[in-house]
Amino acid sequence: MNRHIILVGFMGTGKTTVGKLVAQRLSCPLVDTDHYLEQKRGKAIANIFSTEGERCFRQQEHDALAELVHSPQPQVITTGGGIVLRLDNVDLMKKNGWVVALTAARDVLIERLKKDTTRPLLTGDLDKRVDQLLTERKNAYDFAHVTIDTSHRSPVEVAKIVISKYKAVH
Ligand code: S3P
Repeated sequence: MNRHIILVGFMGTGKTTVGKLVAQRLSCPLVDTDHYLEQKRGKAIANIFSTEGERCFRQQEHDALAELVHSPQPQVITTGGGIVLRLDNVDLMKKNGWVVALTAARDVLIERLKKDTTRPLLTGDLDKRVDQLLTERKNAYDFAHVTIDTSHRSPVEVAKIVISKYKAVH
C-alpha cells in the first residue's frame, strides 16, 4: 500500500467496521479521527460536544485529520461523518489519500442508527434528525474517488470492493 485509504460517509454507513476489515486484509495500520481525538483529549466525542460545543469539536477534528494524513506511513483512516463539512478537510483528504465514500439508503441508516445512543447529533427524533442532516449534507461526499453503496452489502463484501478498486488504480 503506497497511499492512505480514507473512508468518509454519513453516520451508520459502516466506515469503522469496513475500515477494520480493509486494514486487516492489507496488513496496514488503522486510525480513526474520532478515536484519535478521544485518546488525545481523554474525553468522549459526546462530552466534547456537550462541554465545548460543535464548533470547537470541528476544529479539533480538523487538527486530528491534518496530523493523521501527514503521517509518512500509509494507513487506513476512518473519519467522522461530518468531516466533509469543511472544505479544508476535503482538500487535505483529496491531496493526501485515496478517498472512498460509503453510502446507504435513508431507511437502512435509520435502522442501523436506532441502537446507538452515543452520537451527539442524533438526539431527539431520529428520523427527523437523519432527514435534516442528509439534506444538509447532500452531495457533501461526492468528491470521493470512489463511492460504494453499503445498503445491501455485508461489511466483508464492501471491504473486498474497496480493496479491489484500490488495487485497480495503485
Ligand atoms: C458526526 C459523526 C460522528 C462523530 C460526531 C459527529 C457527524 O462519527 O464524528 O458525532 O457530524 O456526522 P461517525 O460518523 O463515526 O458516527
